[in-house]
Amino acid sequence: MRRLDQLLSSLGYCSRREARGWVAAGRLALKGAVADDFGAKADPADVTVDGEPLDHPAGLLLLLHKPVGLVCSHDGREGPDIYSLIPSRWRQRNPSVTSIGRLDKDTSGVLLLTDLSPLVHRLTSPKHKVPKVYRATVDRDLSPDLIAQFASGTLLLDGEDAPCAPAILNLLSAREAELTLTEGRYHQVRRMFAASGATVLTLHRARFGPLELGDLPAGQWRELPLDFFGA
Ligand code: URA
Repeated sequence: MRRLDQLLSSLGYCSRREARGWVAAGRLALKGAVADDFGAKADPADVTVDGEPLDHPAGLLLLLHKPVGLVCSHDGREGPDIYSLIPSRWRQRNPSVTSIGRLDKDTSGVLLLTDLSPLVHRLTSPKHKVPKVYRATVDRDLSPDLIAQFASGTLLLDGEDAPCAPAILNLLSAREAELTLTEGRYHQVRRMFAASGATVLTLHRARFGPLELGDLPAGQWRELPLDFFGA
């Protein structure tokens, strides 16, 4: 049970102060009867705004095909961001909708967005070892020796003490590879290839756990059931 003014502000409709005005204007109903107390506690399922049920009161889980050119940060100073791709009401939610892990500005592919903070923690925790599959093109021919090097669990990235966890490298052509990681360090794919002298030219995340993009176009998202990864 949540207060009506809190419900509206946390779901991104308006501020708490504005919510009081919405109630005074008779825009909210509780079980079909116009609500007159903005402090009344209600089950979100019983509330309507302008006759419509509340917008995803239990939370959001989205699969986004991140395009290149957008950052995952909420800080506007870092440039255009992925949050411009979702409806403005969802951008106003609190807890806010945030990406589960991040992709670089120049990386495209599978990115999950949610306002369910426990899910963010669960899926980004190194304990859970969610496999993520990346496709990279690089600026020089890749040596098959890299397969054993990446799989060894001994590769040290510049400036780090702990070696990378074992990773699976599949060479697709001389300068194209698929890399499966179970961790998510800063710029990890680019830095792993850099350790062998190769520069990543394009990077795309093809899979996150069981999720692939299918025919979802770049810049588009689709909803996933909130219990997709278990309750
Ligand atoms: N590794 C990178 O280098 N960049 C990404 O965006 C994701 C993984």
